[in-house]
Amino acid sequence: MNASPSQGPEFEIHPSAAAVPAAQRAEMLVAPGFGSVFTDHMATIRWTQDVGWHDARIEPYGPITLDPAAAVFHYGQEIFEGLKAYTQADGSVAVFRPDANAARFNRSASRLAMPELPVTLFVRAIEMLVARDRAWVPTTEGHSLYLRPFMIATQTGLGVNKPSASYLFTLIASPVAGYFGAARPVTVWLSEDFSRAAQGGTGEAKCGGNYAAAFAGQQQAIDHGCDQVVWLDAAERQWVEEMGGMNLFFVYGSGAEARLVTPAATGSLLQGITRDSLLKLGPDLGIPAAEDRVSVDEWQRGCASGEITEVFSCGTAAVITPVGAVRGARAEWMVGNGEPGPVTSRLRTELVGIQNGTAPDRYGWMYTLG
Ligand code: PLP
Ligand code: COI
Repeated sequence: MNASPSQGPEFEIHPSAAAVPAAQRAEMLVAPGFGSVFTDHMATIRWTQDVGWHDARIEPYGPITLDPAAAVFHYGQEIFEGLKAYTQADGSVAVFRPDANAARFNRSASRLAMPELPVTLFVRAIEMLVARDRAWVPTTEGHSLYLRPFMIATQTGLGVNKPSASYLFTLIASPVAGYFGAARPVTVWLSEDFSRAAQGGTGEAKCGGNYAAAFAGQQQAIDHGCDQVVWLDAAERQWVEEMGGMNLFFVYGSGAEARLVTPAATGSLLQGITRDSLLKLGPDLGIPAAEDRVSVDEWQRGCASGEITEVFSCGTAAVITPVGAVRGARAEWMVGNGEPGPVTSRLRTELVGIQNGTAPDRYGWMYTLG
């Protein structure tokens, strides 16, 4: 994809006077964890009804000052994205499918009655920030620069008659390692007390409110010794939707007979960009992939009979992480022998190869930053 720098406001650059010294940055990059270390700068762009998008800046990373009556604090009008920049085998830096994240950001904006941001401006913000903070892009294998664009409603006032008339777009960047720490199969908790999303709701949008509503379920997962919550459909509480921060794939059969199934996009689950990529990558590797309904019962019975051989989660943060065991209020079972399976490992190697530039990018997914 190409981004034309000529669309939208040009970025004014306000360099940080307190950038982290190189030696300290090197220490911070050794074991960055996930989302706890941030680069020296951030990108911001403002929107008002009269002017549209304006005042684009690269400025020092730091607190955002808002009126306590700003709409975001009261009504949660906020959306975000997550994508990653990777150091390539040739030393350049490339971002995975930023146009797809920009498109999803705009679908989320539309659902939350917020203004859309031109795709070119979304990508330009990434280019400008990563160029300025290039030294923060990890070079360690398995590490990357996680990019977190978000938009908040800034209008002051407590009325809810209409959406905010002003917004702030911000992009921050965080060098990260694996989301789950050491790469290992995760244990998941079936949430039967709470629902994440329902038809006509905001499940398909990437808005903060979805995650706020999910923490009670995630806390139950932790209380039961699990890593992540699995959400079921809100109406019948039996169809598997997705996990707290990633989508799910089921592997049926093995060897030449292996095939992938991921829960169909029902309108209430987030259509992950990793999910979409695997729906293309799987068949190209000779592993058919389909979107279908999978019930909790089928999951349990399929694991018991051996029909379901592997299950994995996928997402920007989680990449591809095997699911080793499932727990719920009424049942508990293992997936295969609880270890990463061959299909999961193969897909992970292929995807990570494309992202790192060690495998051919047949799909034009990598956007090299100038
Ligand atoms: N589902 C949820 C709830 C998520 O937060 C994420 C993460 O972004 C995903 C799925 C996976 O989406 P993607 O592959 O675009 O990162
Ligand atoms: C991502 O993978 O980008 C996510 O948003 C997942 C989570 C950290 C919220």
